[in-house]
Amino acid sequence: MLDIETREYDVVVVGAGGAGLRAAIEASGRGSRVAVLTKSLLGKAHTVMAEGGIAASFGNLDPYDGWETHFYDTMKSGHFINNYRMVELYTKEAPERVLELESWGAVFDRTEDGKIMQRPFGAHSFRRLAHVGDRTGKELIRTLQQKVVTQNVDIFAEVTTTRIFLDRQGRVAGLFAYHRDDGHFVLFKTRAIILATGGWGRMYKPTSNSWECTGDGAAMAFRVGAELQDMEMVQFHPTGMVWPPGVRGILVTEGVRGEGGLLYNAEGERFMLRYDPEKKELSSRDVVARSIYREVKAGRGTPHGGAWLDITHKGPEYIKRKLPGMYEQFKKLADVDITKERFEVAPTVHYTMGGLRVHPELAATNVPGLYAAGETACGLHGANRLGGNSLGDLLVFGRRAGMAAHEYVQNLASLPEVDEAEVRDEMRRVLRPFEVEGGENPYLIHEALQTIMSTYAGIERSGPELEKGLAELEELKARAERMSVDGPLHFNPGWHTVFEVQSMLLLAEAIFRGALERKESRGAHWRTDYPEELPEYGRVNFVQTYEDGRYHIRPEPVPEMPPELARLFEAGVAPGVLRARQAQNGREETK
Ligand code: FUM
Repeated sequence: MLDIETREYDVVVVGAGGAGLRAAIEASGRGSRVAVLTKSLLGKAHTVMAEGGIAASFGNLDPYDGWETHFYDTMKSGHFINNYRMVELYTKEAPERVLELESWGAVFDRTEDGKIMQRPFGAHSFRRLAHVGDRTGKELIRTLQQKVVTQNVDIFAEVTTTRIFLDRQGRVAGLFAYHRDDGHFVLFKTRAIILATGGWGRMYKPTSNSWECTGDGAAMAFRVGAELQDMEMVQFHPTGMVWPPGVRGILVTEGVRGEGGLLYNAEGERFMLRYDPEKKELSSRDVVARSIYREVKAGRGTPHGGAWLDITHKGPEYIKRKLPGMYEQFKKLADVDITKERFEVAPTVHYTMGGLRVHPELAATNVPGLYAAGETACGLHGANRLGGNSLGDLLVFGRRAGMAAHEYVQNLASLPEVDEAEVRDEMRRVLRPFEVEGGENPYLIHEALQTIMSTYAGIERSGPELEKGLAELEELKARAERMSVDGPLHFNPGWHTVFEVQSMLLLAEAIFRGALERKESRGAHWRTDYPEELPEYGRVNFVQTYEDGRYHIRPEPVPEMPPELARLFEAGVAPGVLRARQAQNGREETK
């Protein structure tokens, strides 16, 4: 008999961001016994950092918008390696999910006639982002949090999860975790697990990601046989803070450009007119990020290596009303008044488009009983995510994961058995860092990893550089085998860091392997030795598995769009834009 705290649930959700909470609401609402585990505190998830809004094609300001146009924009921005079915579901369901959120208490900004206000964002054909000033993620979390506490869901905060257990048939059976405050172990016996632990941007520097984003869920799943897809796709948000050094990387919402902010180089040139004369500052993120990077490389960067972003022409009243968070952020962190001064911005790692390969409708991985939603999963965003499609993703696929996990549980005759020997092994493994004497400091390993990733697998990559980075990573991994910590189990952040670093090291190698395999440039993946987008790579996703400590990578055909969706691309213009143009021409002819 195991003498550790043991809990039993139908569904355990790991992660209390938007996807996790939405999944928990759904599964518990349908009658499953649900626990939510978070290594952070309820309400403090990284979701709060998605500021500018939720993309949903209400057409409140632009009546020609609709799901087909949102579908078109998302596929195009993802360079067509997205899972079209996920995009279809997302674009059709997002408006309903936003209205549902509103019915649960979210207070969106409104138009004069009382509709949900929508703002422009990069590479969206129309004004589409439902928002709450520049604090949309915060409002989303607040609302879901309020909803979840009214349901029968147990919340375990400040809990680190380290391992998923499968039964003899390879089905989910449990999860090993420990309380971060006093280090005591917990075994969660469960029929299904939903992973909603976000991305792994913390393996880079600079990054907009909060400390939680270390890929714990994806790594645990990969170790037990779940497949990862398109790991090479890492999004650099064009605008992170640059100065002072302590705040480098913190997000400057795309909402600033959505509300009219303009980018200039050190010579005062509005350089986006050159890189994308049509969409300019509101081009897709990959294009804007690369443009800033190129300007800096060409010697036209700002004093601290970025570009100028200027919104002063909109006036203080407008800026403070539409972008109160940005106004405060710059005032407090950089002593800059953005209503009066331009400010420096530069690309920052923001989002991981790669992740766990899932069934498009069920959010199910290939491991029975294991689900993933939000940034942990892959498929919706392809090679480049549209801003605002992440908050909607959490709602649409969080709900779907909760629904599917509940159904799965209903069809299980018995609770899968956890092998106690495996639990004992995990207890020993988790305590090992205390036994290693004079080993490696986990913080220094993390820092070295950030240097490797940012140097060799950054915004710009090449085969030789990736090979070099992979070799350095292998050496770092060998060192990381001997990570050690001292002190007690109570409040020991060094100990927690060990497991986060292990997760990131595992996923970092998958990024290198994916990036080496994709010998082309596509979306966020920019290879200077293969600068063109190549049609043969547009037909494949790269899928990785992990067995006996070895990575295996294979190309899988990108799911083919049915004719009625493929037809949307025939005109080479988004359907709503075409309709708007036709209507405009019609009006001009009747004049
Ligand atoms: O710029 C932003 O507000 C970020 C939004 C997003 O990543 O969706």
